[in-house]
Amino acid sequence: MANHVVFFTLVALTLCHLAFAFEPSPLQDFCVADSTSSGIQTFWFSFSNMLYSTRPPKVNGLACKNPMNVQADDFFFSGLNIMGNTSNPVGSEVTPVTVAQLPGLNTLGISMVRIDYAPRGLNPPHTHPRATEILTVLEGSLQVGFVTSNPENRLISKVLQKGDVFVFPVGLVHFQRNVGYGNAVAIAALSSQNPGVITIANAVFGSNPPIAADLLAKAFQVKTSVVDQLQSKF
Ligand SMILES: *[C@@H]1O[C@H](CO)[C@@H](O)[C@H](O)[C@H]1NC(C)=O
Repeated sequence: MANHVVFFTLVALTLCHLAFAFEPSPLQDFCVADSTSSGIQTFWFSFSNMLYSTRPPKVNGLACKNPMNVQADDFFFSGLNIMGNTSNPVGSEVTPVTVAQLPGLNTLGISMVRIDYAPRGLNPPHTHPRATEILTVLEGSLQVGFVTSNPENRLISKVLQKGDVFVFPVGLVHFQRNVGYGNAVAIAALSSQNPGVITIANAVFGSNPPIAADLLAKAFQVKTSVVDQLQSKF
């Protein structure tokens, strides 16, 4: 009986770190994401002459590559000099350098993006559920902003010029719009190797399957036909 209590306590302790909102400080130099592993390895341990197996939590989402097999290229990405293709309805393009593009970022709690904006191009309102973002303008002028949480929903907005820096706090809805005459370029760093993106319009009007139009009509206090039109864009 006591054995089982200790066993389940061990399991609970193993799982409890999943509830942490932020990356714990790494306890090793690095944990290069192993693309060949599912991240689910069976781990065996003995306890009171009994052999138990468990599936340990994934290390911040991905299993580590054997450090002996790690190469410089695991910590390397090339291509942020290349302009993103802004020929799309919003006129902006994000080139990400997250753990998906740079496996050495795994567990380090940091990533980077390049954002290109056509004239009047918009990076539409979105949030990063797991990251604060700090952005600097390399070329052009950007109107940027974020909205505070309920009930104030205060818009905090500013026009940035080349060299200016702005921070979007974790989880808050934010946007950037090119208000200059030419193209604009920004580089941003994010406080997660896997920041995630929720684009508000796509999530609300472009979900799969769609949210019921009458539900959204009530939420937005408009006619269902307005919701139908919005949903048809996605
Ligand atoms: C940019 O994207 C548009 C729309 O998807 C596509 O038609 C066009 O070929 C792309 N241009 C380049 C240079 O890749």
